[in-house]
Amino acid sequence: MAMEGPARKIVVLGTGGTIAGTAARPEDHTGYRAAQLGVQALVAALPALQRWPLEAEQVAQIDSADMTHAVWQRLVQRAAAHMAREDVGAIVVTHGTDTLEETAYLLHRLLAPAKPLVLTAAMRPATALQADGPQNLLDAVTLAAEPGARGVLAVMAGQVWSGAELRKRHPYRLDAFDAGDAGALGAIEQGVLRRWRDWPAGTPLGAALVEADPAQWPRVEIVTSHAGSDGRLVDAVCAQGVDGLVVAGVGNGQVHAGLGAALERARGQGVAVAVTTRCSGGVVVGAGAGAYGALTPVQARIELMLGLLAQRRPAR
Ligand code: SIN
Repeated sequence: MAMEGPARKIVVLGTGGTIAGTAARPEDHTGYRAAQLGVQALVAALPALQRWPLEAEQVAQIDSADMTHAVWQRLVQRAAAHMAREDVGAIVVTHGTDTLEETAYLLHRLLAPAKPLVLTAAMRPATALQADGPQNLLDAVTLAAEPGARGVLAVMAGQVWSGAELRKRHPYRLDAFDAGDAGALGAIEQGVLRRWRDWPAGTPLGAALVEADPAQWPRVEIVTSHAGSDGRLVDAVCAQGVDGLVVAGVGNGQVHAGLGAALERARGQGVAVAVTTRCSGGVVVGAGAGAYGALTPVQARIELMLGLLAQRRPAR
C-alpha cells in the first residue's frame, strides 16, 4: 500500500481588499479603509487554519478598485511560481470584491491550473461586528485542500464559483456574486464541499504571455451603447491611441447607429472591436455573436487584451 506523504502546503497570497480592511467603528460597513491588514495577520487571526500547513505571502496591498496590470503581472508570476512547486498543493488569493471577477478570469485564462487556485474576499471589513472575511478565508482554504479540486475557483458566503464565470452582482450584500446562467459550482457547508458541477477546465495561455512590461500591454477600453450614443467617445479614444475596444451593446449586442458608425471608423484604423452585451445576465446569441458574446464586458476586455498580446508573439 502506498504511504501517504506529508500534506502539501497551501500558499495564501494577499492582495488587500475589504477582507484586509479596517473601519473606525465596529458597526461601519461602508466608509472603511480597504487593504490595512497584512495577509500574515489575516491567517494568524484564524486559529482554525492551523490544521493545514500554510505559507503566506503579500503580493500587493490595494483596494481592488485600483487594480493595475503591474499587480496582475506580479500575481500571475507568483501564483505560477508556487503552482510549480512540488511541495505546494494549492493557492488561496485574498482580494477585494470589486474587481475579483476580472482577476479570476485573468488567472483562469493564463493558468487554468491542475491544482486549485481559490480566490476569496469579504464584503465587510475585518473590524465589523459580523465580519465575513474569516469564514470566507476558512472556506477558501477548505476548498483548496479538497482532494481532486482543480482550476481557478472563488468562494464567497459559502458559495463556490468557477473563476471563469464569476460576476459581482450586488454592492452590499454578503452573497454579492453569481455566475450568470451558469450558477454556482457548489457550496461549502459546515466545512464540507457539496459540488454539483465539474471543476473548471481550460487550456492555459501561460504566464509568459504577460511577461512584457505592463506599460506596453495593449490598451483596450470599454464603451457602452446607450440612448444618445453618438460615437464621439470612440473617436476621442482612437485619437489618443487605442488597440482594442469592447462594446457593451444593448440587448443581443446591438449598438446605437451613431456608435456603430464610430466603431466602423475605429475598425478602419486597425482597432480591434469586440461586442458583448450590457445585460447583466445571459449571452449574445446568433450568427453575429462572435468569440466575445458569452463574456461580460470586463472579461471581454481581458480576452481581447490577451489575444492582442498573443498576436505580438514572434511566430515559432
Ligand atoms: C476592494 O475591492 O478592494 C474593496 C471592496 C471590497 O473588497 O469589497
